[in-house]
Amino acid sequence: MLAPSAQSPRPSSPPIESAGDDWWHNAVIYQVYLRSFQDSDGDGIGDLQGLRERLPYLRGLGVDGIWLAPFYPSPQHDHGYDVSDYTGVHSDYGTLADAGDLVGDAHRLGLRVVVDIVPNHCSVEHPWFAAAVAAEPAGPERQRFHFADGRGEDGELPPNNWRSIFGGSAWERVAERGGAPGQWFLHSFAPEQPDFNWRHPEVVAHFDRVLRFWFDLGVDGLRIDVAHGLHKRDRLPDHDLAVGDELTGDPVNPHAWNQREVHDVWRRWRAIADGYARRTGRARLLVGEVGLLDAEQLATYQRPGELHQSFYFDFLRAPWEAPALREVIDKGTRTVAGPGAPVAWVLNNHDMPRSVTRYAGGAPGHGAGDVALGLRRAAAAALLLLALPGTAYLYQGEELGLPEVTDLPDEALSDPVFHRTGGARRGRDGCRVPLPWSAVGDSFGFSPDGATPPWLPQPDWFARYTVERQLDLGDSMLQLYRAAIALRHRIPAMSSQRLRWISAEPGVLCFTRGDGFVCMVNCSSQPVRAPMGSLLIASDPETGEKVPADGAAWFLLPGRSAARTF
Ligand code: GLC
Repeated sequence: MLAPSAQSPRPSSPPIESAGDDWWHNAVIYQVYLRSFQDSDGDGIGDLQGLRERLPYLRGLGVDGIWLAPFYPSPQHDHGYDVSDYTGVHSDYGTLADAGDLVGDAHRLGLRVVVDIVPNHCSVEHPWFAAAVAAEPAGPERQRFHFADGRGEDGELPPNNWRSIFGGSAWERVAERGGAPGQWFLHSFAPEQPDFNWRHPEVVAHFDRVLRFWFDLGVDGLRIDVAHGLHKRDRLPDHDLAVGDELTGDPVNPHAWNQREVHDVWRRWRAIADGYARRTGRARLLVGEVGLLDAEQLATYQRPGELHQSFYFDFLRAPWEAPALREVIDKGTRTVAGPGAPVAWVLNNHDMPRSVTRYAGGAPGHGAGDVALGLRRAAAAALLLLALPGTAYLYQGEELGLPEVTDLPDEALSDPVFHRTGGARRGRDGCRVPLPWSAVGDSFGFSPDGATPPWLPQPDWFARYTVERQLDLGDSMLQLYRAAIALRHRIPAMSSQRLRWISAEPGVLCFTRGDGFVCMVNCSSQPVRAPMGSLLIASDPETGEKVPADGAAWFLLPGRSAARTF
């Protein structure tokens, strides 16, 4: 990888308190999967103190903000996406004071902080759910969830045929007082994650308080888990297509997802966020995880007065082919983006096999594929991602070019997906392995010396990907990301929302942004002639007159300036 002419440090960010509106437009936001980021106390699990220690690294990477996966009290059946207290901090991760200190430290470094809110479901250990199970079937405590009598002679069959996303039925039966099998409750994910009943006013009011709690603590935004969930179709009718397949989860059940009423919640939350923005002069971001494949439907979540943006997963799902990528980019910029709602581009997150492995033809349980090829393409994809108009979301380790760990032993796997499908789906652990920071100690610097081993085992080959090593190499993936992010902040043309395609050879993407910036991505198997202009940065050191196969590069047309004055 080549990162010429982009080594100068990023200009300092404006102080957070005086930062203008909509800081996420054109921002680069880095997802921290806390459990696997940095362990400070030696229990083999990442924590808030560890993250605080590493904030200068993120500042050096040049990102504008971080999004933190859930760190709330939780029995960790789905690693924190099963929340038992929405306004606390799990003891593995630290204390509420640590969370406040983290926000303070981040703000001093010019980094915004986005926290993850999980409104569709909670944990079986949430006091409301414990009270519901202890209550009579007709008790008001059960109304905050979806409890229902079973079908069959003795209620031994689930109330409907809905499937859980993690495999198996979406219903679990409880024992009533006295121990007899009783009602069932709905869980769209694991049985340890009961779905809230969003038609209940106490659920609505509870989350209003949760939002205010975290905004009062100073966070700059919320990532909203399963934002197309929450409401279910009245009377929970059977799903026509759900029959049979135990393993594939729920193939977009129209009764369980994307109900009209959910938009009322986003209008309500937006009003709260806007209220904070008005009172404090600091805009607060609402970014949704909306798992819908239809771009027009996705766009409805960021209509004026609703969410600011939703992750655009089509980009992540696209194969390494120019026509497919171009179509997805067009759909993103034309259909998904709205007025004041930039596209939230994503190549990696904690739920998907890492891009290096996807582009290499590998997958969990099926091998790593051609890693060298995957790395070349992932580097090129990084330049594509960072050249697009909108917000770029990175996932920890992406900047290191980490491949997926595809061969974790069965006994190490902790994702409920693996267990609920009897091992047929390997699950998401392979992209969640703790980060390699340095050659130090037994855990590549993830934990202090003499600590408990990391909660997921790191393979020996992580040694090649450590931060320390990559900072020493001029042409590492990390240097490419640092240089590209710095350029993205410096080049005036990159603040333009306009993207215009330039005709290019088959298999090649070429577009301009604003005045004079050109990005070329060569998905073909042949080198192609580079466009006119000076080379700013390239994913392949051989880039010159030509952009090599599976390479990408940025150019500046003659007479344009790469510097922005601040
Ligand atoms: C979201 C999260 C995922 C979690 C699921 C259930 O999709 O990204 O990690 O398992 O919601 O909360």
